[in-house]
Formats: sequence, structure tokens, C-alpha cells
Amino acid sequence: MNLPIELGVNIDHIANIRQARFTPYPDLLEAVALIEKAGAHAITLHLREDRRHIQDADVYAVRKALTTRMNFEMGATAEMVKIALDVQPHDVCVVPEKREELTTEGGLDVIGQFERIQKVTQELSRANIRVSLFIEPDMEQIRRVPDIGAPVIELHTGTYANNTGEAKWRELERIQQAAEFAHSLGIQVNAGHGLDYQNTVAIAMIPTIRELNIGHAMVARAVFVGIEAATREMLVLMQAARADA
Ligand code: PXP
Repeated sequence: MNLPIELGVNIDHIANIRQARFTPYPDLLEAVALIEKAGAHAITLHLREDRRHIQDADVYAVRKALTTRMNFEMGATAEMVKIALDVQPHDVCVVPEKREELTTEGGLDVIGQFERIQKVTQELSRANIRVSLFIEPDMEQIRRVPDIGAPVIELHTGTYANNTGEAKWRELERIQQAAEFAHSLGIQVNAGHGLDYQNTVAIAMIPTIRELNIGHAMVARAVFVGIEAATREMLVLMQAARADA
């Protein structure tokens, strides 16, 4: 019997559309209700240091309204820890953050930033927030995760998503091996970044992966079919892939 696979829908790009014109629409809470109605398991949102899409008030409003889980993505800063402790999301995913990047580029360096990430993980864990670390499918990085104390990792699938041909399949193999290794250490393995309606199938077939966090491709699909249908389509695809795994 395969482990079930869950979907966290990243709503940052819905906020991006709103912030492009500073209008009150599209309403994030309406989107959250439709995503949850479609059966998604979590709502993911990233409060960036520059507040380019999600705003502080959004985090509080979504936390209050949601009926599933909040997966709060944040940089490992004192400002974000303070907000997370106040908001009390179910999960925090710690991500690296650079001001000038288009989106999160690369995973956390849990070796180079060990102390800072361990401190943030401990502060959040003490408040019963489950901490996930967004990292590359790299064995050396994964090996240090138990010492940091995070129960979950999210494997960065960006290199897999952005490559073609041989390089894509090599990266898929790296993700499979990394997932298996982390799972053997007792770490829950999630994955995300750059996943779409085609490339998600192979990732959802990796039996040790428990949750996928997907945003851009789903919001793009929602332009044509609406966010509720876009969410259902992704869930059907993921669950069919897992059943075939
Ligand atoms: N997971 C993490 C940690 C991310 O930072 C992002 C992008 O915000 C995603 C998943 C979703 O990526 P995408 O928008 O490409 O689906």
C-alpha cells in the first residue's frame, strides 16, 4: 500500500496579480476557500522580506480563514521568526532568500548556515510549529538535518523542472535517492519548485515523497479553468501517479 501524497497550493502568485495594480482583488481568501473545496491539503505562502506579493495582513487573514494547514515559507531571520510565533502556522518551511531573485533560487545551505538554521528551527519547534527545510537533493546537506532537528525537508525540484533530456533524468534520479536517504533517517520528505501538469507525474511516483508544494503552474492554469478546477486537476494527476508507483 503506497503512502498517500498531499498537495500544498502556493498562493503567492495570486497575490502577485493583486500587487501588480494594488487592487483589493483577486481576493486571497476566496482563492483559499476554492482550493480547499477542491481537496488540497495545505495552503502555502511566502512572506518575503521585500513584501513583493504576500503582505503581513494576508498571513493573519489566511491563518484565521483556512480549514486545512498553513505552510508558511520564510527566510531564517529574527523578523520572520517573530511573525511565525505570532501567527502560529502549522508548518514553517525555511527557505533561502535573496532580495534580487525572481523566485527562491537554490536550497538552504544547512552546512554553511548550520547555527542560524538550528536556532530558528529550535525557536519554532518550541512553539509546536513543524519545521521543514528547503534543500537541494544533496546527501551531504541531508545528513546534517537530524542534527538541526527539523522533522521535514522539502527537496528543491527546480533543477529537474528546468532541465531537459539526459540532465533532467539524472536530476530525477538524484531526487529519488535523496528522498530515500532522508526517509531512512526518519525525515518526512516533501518536494516543490517548478512543478507543472507534466513534470509532476515522475515526482509524485517517488513513494517516499509525502507532499508537493506547487504554485506558479497552477495559478497559470487557473487563468483558463479557475483555481478550483486547477487544484482538482493537479490532485487527480498526483494521486493517479502515486497509485501507479
Ligand atoms: N516550494 C518552495 C520552498 C518555494 O519557495 C516555492 C516558490 O515560492 C515553491 C515550492 C513553489 O514553486 P512554483 O511556484 O514554481 O510551483
